[in-house]
Amino acid sequence: MGVLGYQMMGLRVVLILAFVCIRILDIEAQTNTQDTAALQALTKDWENLPPNWSGGDPCGSQWDGISCTNSRITEITLANMDLKGQLTGDIAFLSALRILDLSYNKRLTGPLPPSIGQLKALTNLILLGCGFNGRIPDSVGSLEQLVYLSLNENKFTGEIPASIGNLKHLYWLDLADNQLTGGVPVSNGSTPGLDLLVKTKHFHFGMNRLSGTIPAKLFNSSMTLIHVLFDNNDLTGNLPSSLGLVSTLEAVRFDRNSLSGDLPATIGNLTNVNELVLSHNALTGPIPDLSRMQTLSLLDLSNNSFDAAEVPQWISSLQSLTTLMIDGAKLEGPLPEEIFNIPQLQTVSMRNNQINGTFKIGGNYSRELQLIDLQNNSIEAATVAPQHNFTLTLVDNPFCSGDGEQFVYCKSDQDTGSRYTSPASCIVRSCPSEKTFSPACKCAYPFTGTLRFRAPSSFGNTDYFNALHKNLLDTLGKYRLPVESVALQDEGVDVFGYLNVKMQVFPLGQDYFNRTGIISLAFVFSNQTYKPLDTYGPYVFAADIYTHFDGKSGNNSHTGIIVGAAVGASVLLLLLICAGGYALNQKKRAKKAKQESDPFVSWDAHGAGGDVPQLKGARFFTFEELQKCTHNFSEANNIGSGGYGKVYKGILPDGQMIAIKRSQQGSMQGSREFKNEVELLSRVHHKNLVKLIGFCFDKGEQTLVYEFIPNGTLMESLSGKSGIQMDWIRRLMVTLGSARGLQYLHELADPPIIHRDIKSNNILLDERLTAKVADFGLSKLFGDTDQKGYVTTQVKGTMGYLDPEYFMTNQLTEKSDIFSFGVVMLEMVTARQPIQDGKYIVREVKEAMDRSKDLYNLHRVMDPLLLTHTTTLVGLEKFVDLALKCVQDEGTNRPTMGEVVKEIENIVKLAGMNPNAESAPSSQTYDGVSGGNFGHPYSDNSLFHYSGSIPLTRAE
Ligand SMILES: *[C@@H]1O[C@H](CO)[C@@H](O)[C@H](O)[C@H]1NC(C)=O
Ligand SMILES: *[C@@H]1O[C@H](CO)[C@@H](O)[C@H](O)[C@H]1NC(C)=O
Ligand SMILES: *[C@@H]1O[C@H](CO)[C@@H](O)[C@H](O)[C@H]1NC(C)=O
Ligand SMILES: *[C@@H]1O[C@H](CO)[C@@H](O)[C@H](O)[C@H]1NC(C)=O
Repeated sequence: MGVLGYQMMGLRVVLILAFVCIRILDIEAQTNTQDTAALQALTKDWENLPPNWSGGDPCGSQWDGISCTNSRITEITLANMDLKGQLTGDIAFLSALRILDLSYNKRLTGPLPPSIGQLKALTNLILLGCGFNGRIPDSVGSLEQLVYLSLNENKFTGEIPASIGNLKHLYWLDLADNQLTGGVPVSNGSTPGLDLLVKTKHFHFGMNRLSGTIPAKLFNSSMTLIHVLFDNNDLTGNLPSSLGLVSTLEAVRFDRNSLSGDLPATIGNLTNVNELVLSHNALTGPIPDLSRMQTLSLLDLSNNSFDAAEVPQWISSLQSLTTLMIDGAKLEGPLPEEIFNIPQLQTVSMRNNQINGTFKIGGNYSRELQLIDLQNNSIEAATVAPQHNFTLTLVDNPFCSGDGEQFVYCKSDQDTGSRYTSPASCIVRSCPSEKTFSPACKCAYPFTGTLRFRAPSSFGNTDYFNALHKNLLDTLGKYRLPVESVALQDEGVDVFGYLNVKMQVFPLGQDYFNRTGIISLAFVFSNQTYKPLDTYGPYVFAADIYTHFDGKSGNNSHTGIIVGAAVGASVLLLLLICAGGYALNQKKRAKKAKQESDPFVSWDAHGAGGDVPQLKGARFFTFEELQKCTHNFSEANNIGSGGYGKVYKGILPDGQMIAIKRSQQGSMQGSREFKNEVELLSRVHHKNLVKLIGFCFDKGEQTLVYEFIPNGTLMESLSGKSGIQMDWIRRLMVTLGSARGLQYLHELADPPIIHRDIKSNNILLDERLTAKVADFGLSKLFGDTDQKGYVTTQVKGTMGYLDPEYFMTNQLTEKSDIFSFGVVMLEMVTARQPIQDGKYIVREVKEAMDRSKDLYNLHRVMDPLLLTHTTTLVGLEKFVDLALKCVQDEGTNRPTMGEVVKEIENIVKLAGMNPNAESAPSSQTYDGVSGGNFGHPYSDNSLFHYSGSIPLTRAE
């Protein structure tokens, strides 16, 4: 064989090898080549593609978010990947595509390409919560198989394409929360319109800028709509009476438009409607009879221009109502008492009307009632059951400027209860790095976002929230998603009328979700696979960006750009330039993130009008306001001082007394910590805790403003300084109150709070001698913990009350508070300070004690006042037993606060008192008040709290 022969042979070998290679590639290339090419072209400029897209082939290598059938790409689901890029016309070549879900990728921007209309197999087009803009192309009307169209929460402009009317199979149409303008298109013989969508169940058009009148033709009796949401637009003219033809309707919102004219009477034909919201329009005429709408649970007709009329009698016949809102509707005459007997009723709001006469609520009112708001009416008298769980507001009625003035109903800052947060099965702790503590007690990176309920018929009802929570868990379990637990937090109703509920979904088995986990989880919500209970009606889920795929904390490294092997010098140079740009960009982002995390940056600039975070009840004070109400922090107004700074008394312009805790230079915390603290304290509401009214973060001040508690500290009362005589019953009630306050902090606050400085000086007494625990939550929540259930901190606290275990180990648990509380209980018995004349109260009591004798033989160490008093000391032995359990050396042997409360309740009952009475008995039952401390106008209102139904009426 010559040279040529070898060369030929070599060539053959190469050819054979090449052939083998092609065969191998062919086997691997399971994806249709056109689909592969289209996908590559579509995504070549996208950032943050899943890392496994870097090799092999879309179907064969099971790229994240790609599903195939017969080598064709049929599904692309890449929700919540933080993708960045544009959707180009290349999408059209993926002609077998059935599902496209790119939701929650805010950085996917630009227009929707008209060629998208070529996807003849597409059934689900879901681009919820992206950054798309421009007009919605008419070609969406060519997607003949489309069942589910969700383009909501983008920046689309222009009109609703009439061609959508051609989508015969369409079930879900959601264009809400864009910037759409123009009218609602209806067919006219030659052009299609939305009236042709007889299979569609959902019209979601809220939060756009739609204008013009609502065409009567839009609704007809062939339709099967269940949700029609046109809220928050600029629609004018009448509400067409044809709406009454769509008998399948369940949720109807036309609120927050400029509708005028009379409400059509046919609306009363909609007997399946659960939620009807027509508020904030200019509707006129009479309110039509809606008594046939027996499934109605939410009715909101507020702020219209209806004719002046009495409160319609038929309202009381709506037996499914949970929420009734008719503010500003010229209602007059008396309010029929029967309304409150509707069995599930939770909220009644009829502010700004001319309702007059006597407000009455009988004994059969709904036990679900949470709020009756009748501000600014003409009510002159009120009769209310004394023990009830709802909040009643009669502010700005003649009643409140007359005899009613002192009643709680006339106070504008009533506590309306705390917001729902899902319960945890253990004490909540904070987690290292950016992890979050799950309800199942693990630290992990949850998938988070906000459920926005678009027509909620119940706000803030715990039972409903618990049902929602269970329903969510069941659904996620049913779809076998890798979910360990779910936490919900009620954020309340926003100005658009949506109920926002924050949701955290925690991963199962590991502490993060991988990409497939997030994709399938997000799809359950973007595709509305999850259906909530009827109570909450239609919803939309807005997911937050998830950056913890692969279990890393912090930002996604913007991977997905594959760098070839041959990196020439010029490429290297380019890369360096890129890296520089990237670093700069990151720096900018970090700065922006800092600003976002620190609302006080803008507060400083804008004062009270600035970017105030969600605070429950607490308000912002300017430094000038505080200066004014304390006479420039005069010494005369100084009522105390401590490590934190000084405390001042002040009076607000409306007459409310406040206590101002002003931190001194040097003891200030970072603004972030201060913000956290304010947010935390503003969420804590309990009648045995001193209430935060507001704060000041202005001119370098960090100041907390609390309600003023007039009767001073427990220590002052026990020492006789305050002139309040503390008999045994009073001591029991004060102990019970403070225990309940602490129990709330430990077991119900979220996150739970260890007080760290329980002492008789931090228990205040109000005008009814209700105990109020003060100074909780200052500076230290459950700080940096590990999994063992304690916080390692510098020992803080007051000598004598300090838990020896905490002192020795530096490990703080809620049991440290129990110890201090035990010491306070011993103070109650002895009226001695914990360490007095070098003697330690715990040892003194133990040494004096003899369980076989009367009063445990404690006469020598007991407060002589107790012994001289006529009342017998029922339960004293049990009380001392409990106190000594609390001061056990080892934390694990001490009871929990819940157990302490129970035991004190038992003792209170033994002593013949009702543990649920509002406060310590007043001077009429137990004499012993001396001095001027009871000068408060409602201190002596014992009738109000202890007798049966009492008329709170003006003499008529
Ligand atoms: C609908 O309401 C109107 C006006 O109240 C009434 O005249 C009509 O008979 C009702 N139609 C049906 C189908 O109930
Ligand atoms: C309540 O208002 C109605 C209608 O304005 C009026 O006729 C009636 O006299 C008022 N009743 C009382 C007790 O003032
Ligand atoms: C108030 O609520 C509690 C707990 O939910 C309940 O036990 C009690 O019966 C309620 N009281 C009234 C008067 O409805
Ligand atoms: C992603 O997580 C799921 C569930 O936790 C697991 O079954 C799957 O194997 C993971 N996928 C990868 C590529 O790690």
